[in-house]
Amino acid sequence: MSTLQNRTAKSGRETFTSGLAVFFATLGSAVGLGNIWKFPYLTGQFGGGAFLLVYFLCILFVGLPVMLGEFYIGRKTRKNAVGAFQQLKPVSGWKHIGTMGVAAAYLIMFFYSCVAGWVYYYLYKAVKGDFIAITPESVKTQFTDVIIGPVSPILWQVIVMAVVGGILILGVRKGIERITKTLMPLLFVLIVICGIRAITLPGAYEGLKFLFHVDFSQLSAAAILTAMGLAFFKLSLGMGTMITYGSYFTADNNLFGTAAKVALSDTIVSMLAGIAIFPTVFSFGMEPGAGPGLLFMTIPLVFSKMPFGNLLLIAFFFLTSIAATTAMLSLVEVLVAYFSEELGFSRRNAAIINAVIICGVGMLAALSADQASLLGNVTFLGRGFFDWFDYISSNILLPMGGLFIAIFIGYFLKKDDIKKELSNQGNLTIDKLIDVYFVIIRYVTPALLVIVFLNSIGIIKV
Ligand code: PHE
Repeated sequence: MSTLQNRTAKSGRETFTSGLAVFFATLGSAVGLGNIWKFPYLTGQFGGGAFLLVYFLCILFVGLPVMLGEFYIGRKTRKNAVGAFQQLKPVSGWKHIGTMGVAAAYLIMFFYSCVAGWVYYYLYKAVKGDFIAITPESVKTQFTDVIIGPVSPILWQVIVMAVVGGILILGVRKGIERITKTLMPLLFVLIVICGIRAITLPGAYEGLKFLFHVDFSQLSAAAILTAMGLAFFKLSLGMGTMITYGSYFTADNNLFGTAAKVALSDTIVSMLAGIAIFPTVFSFGMEPGAGPGLLFMTIPLVFSKMPFGNLLLIAFFFLTSIAATTAMLSLVEVLVAYFSEELGFSRRNAAIINAVIICGVGMLAALSADQASLLGNVTFLGRGFFDWFDYISSNILLPMGGLFIAIFIGYFLKKDDIKKELSNQGNLTIDKLIDVYFVIIRYVTPALLVIVFLNSIGIIKV
């Protein structure tokens, strides 16, 4: 306790207070709309089991090693994403990996805050009882009404940013730590309840079969790139989030342990979300490849048909709001830490300014989410604003950031330094683990990333 306080006082920088706080905050970053919204609809679009298998491999051989690398960079330097690279390699262009991360944080927030706005709005509608008499037809109209607006999606996006900004102003401990420690366990309980309920539906078997049946003929280059992008997005990697959070970790935290626990728990939450959603899709004869609206159209329908359905629905959208909010805390914290440490803003101003920027530009996403939206017809190369923000960040910037981080860790830093930090100055015996880690981060992770990139642009065919 006293050492913690000393360190905080010395550097003027906050840290989380315990291992449990580190775990919940980091899991809070990983678990988000990625699990509950993106994961099911992408798995649906790209054919189920085979996509899932590729996704698992990406988590294991790319996600986990990059996550550990980011933890290292953050905790070693105790700096924001840009400052951290700067400190490790002062005279070089490496700090621009951090700059790229800042750009990715904005792009993700532009559309993420919009979808989070829909989720908050759905929670409000569930509380009002709007879904009690829902039918397969009206669920679709309700969804398009919510996303087309044009006033309501923007209004809810602003509410979302006010909540996120407000929590961040409170700081690392009083804001991020307190919120994630209280809400993450609740989220877990709620999603288990929803998953159990969905699995007992008629038609559930079809849904589970879809999720777990592996058919490699379904697998395209686009599917593999998407699975890789999803792995990065899911674990909040390749853009400095885990560097920034790592910089707040306690000195005695076992970084290997935290990375493994977070990746595993995050995957369990995604599976539970898939288990809650796909049985519903099949028992109501809906389309698993329905796209971004999947979550919003299936869940109200299924829960409205059961006893205490509206309560379950409220629980579900509440848990999704929690997931989205805690993930956004980590996204915007990348910006807040950068603005306050590199550009000299106060924490409060950094949070406010970034919330305003995100609302301002994010409006473009909110107004282009559907064909019928105000800017629904504005497209470049076949994609509107919403889709571009998502595509550039998830499928390009994050995996590219990951590739650079792997190369940086594997080739540009001293193995001994890394060993020292990851073993907590020799307190943990991890010699063998470090050797395995180095083989993976040097050869396996970059090779897989390069293959996936080349494959996706058609230069090589897998
Ligand atoms: N991991 C979050 C999710 O799954 C999204 C996220 C991406 C958060 C990148 C931080 C950084 O929803």
